[in-house]
Amino acid sequence: MVLKFDRLTISLISIVHNYLLVFLASTPRKDIIGSVSKDLRDKHIVLCVCGSVAASESPEICRELMRHGAEVYTVMTDAARKIIHPNLLEWASGNPVVTKLTGKTEHIELVGNWQGKADLVLIAPATANAISKIAAGVDDNPVTTVASVALGTKTSIIIAPGMHEPMYTNPIIKENIGRLRALGVEFVEPRLEEGKAKIASTEDIVAAVVRKLRYKDMQGLRVMVTAGPTVEHIDPVRIITNRSTGKMGVAIAEEAWRRGADVTLIQGPGLTGVTHGIRTIHIYTTEQLRNAVVGDLKSANYDLVVSAAAPADFKPDKPFGRKLSTRDTRQLKLTLSPTTKVIDEVKKVSPKALLVAFKAEYKLPKDRMIKSATTLLNEAGADLVVANDVGKRGVGFEADTNEVYIVDRKKSVTHVPLLPKEEIARRILDMAVHLLKQKK
Ligand SMILES: Cc1cc2nc3c(=O)[nH]c(=O)nc-3n(C[C@H](O)[C@H](O)[C@H](O)COP(=O)(O)O)c2cc1C
Repeated sequence: MVLKFDRLTISLISIVHNYLLVFLASTPRKDIIGSVSKDLRDKHIVLCVCGSVAASESPEICRELMRHGAEVYTVMTDAARKIIHPNLLEWASGNPVVTKLTGKTEHIELVGNWQGKADLVLIAPATANAISKIAAGVDDNPVTTVASVALGTKTSIIIAPGMHEPMYTNPIIKENIGRLRALGVEFVEPRLEEGKAKIASTEDIVAAVVRKLRYKDMQGLRVMVTAGPTVEHIDPVRIITNRSTGKMGVAIAEEAWRRGADVTLIQGPGLTGVTHGIRTIHIYTTEQLRNAVVGDLKSANYDLVVSAAAPADFKPDKPFGRKLSTRDTRQLKLTLSPTTKVIDEVKKVSPKALLVAFKAEYKLPKDRMIKSATTLLNEAGADLVVANDVGKRGVGFEADTNEVYIVDRKKSVTHVPLLPKEEIARRILDMAVHLLKQKK
């Protein structure tokens, strides 16, 4: 018998079929997996939760790991269950929660030596109690037992402590942290505030996990990134600056750090709260930017310099030493002179470093923008110039997105369409890494 269907029926069957596939394969609680990035795609993470007040952060840590593509399995201590209910973690992860060890030998299922074992154990929050027990090799609950097995199977472990400050500064806890560090366990350091060692931000914890699990094509590279505007004073309270926020440079610094690079970020005023593993030097004026760049380039061998800062290009010749009053000053005439071109200094100090420069233009046609980028390429001896038109909506200054043209020394131009700055950062670094490999 041959069944014949019209187009509408076929479409309906296809929709129902697809829906069933999604329904059977997963749960709606997991529909956020990969919604932010694919950084943790196919990665299985065991999130262990201990009895700290910061356990209230664990569901969000779990969801954020999932948004970056991970499958998360949660494990709780008894003390953690007195702070948040396992139902919340079951909802958050979409998987059953391990609250006790049974004949299923959950600890072996999760991190034992077999092909289905998890890629990483994240203990967040970790109590002083759990840290010390793990360091002493005690496994008396699901979390410490998972950690013990993970140490034995050399599964990556990241610990995010949360506790009162006196517990954190207790020399015994410090010693135990040092002991675990020596075994390769990574710590995401807490923020010391209000007498507490508060668990690091979810963003920092997830960044540490991504750094650990993502490909490390920048491991061993020393990278300098400049970001944000600089500021020149007219008088002690009035300034000349530009609309740069530093988002693009910070995105590049964080991406390089996640890919394993040793990163120094030289950052003008604007954004705060950069990833904790990045060494950050704060600067204010263009002169300070110059001194920080040159000083640091002289002190270490950098492989890559990404100059994403937007220096204030002009400064008053004679800044006023006191605050000007509008009552006394009828008209103010300023004479401005160009500031130092920091970009021109890089290759003079570090001729071997690969240099990526940025060129912001305002409402220029594409061909003129590329021409101007090529001029900068030659003047600064840059290897790549990233040009963008900050007059376009959603491009460059203040925006979370960017659209760029990347020009190289062979004069080939790569157009990257309007995308989040994180993705633009990734594309720029892909090209820089490719050039660095060719240089070797
Ligand atoms: C409300 C509350 C909050 C707590 N917060 C913390 C904390 O932030 N850090 C910590 O190390 N211990 C904290 N404790 C103490 C731990 O819960 C206690 O040491 C417990 O034995 C830890 O067990 P666990 O490591 O098995 O989870 C807290 C206790 C209570 C009752």
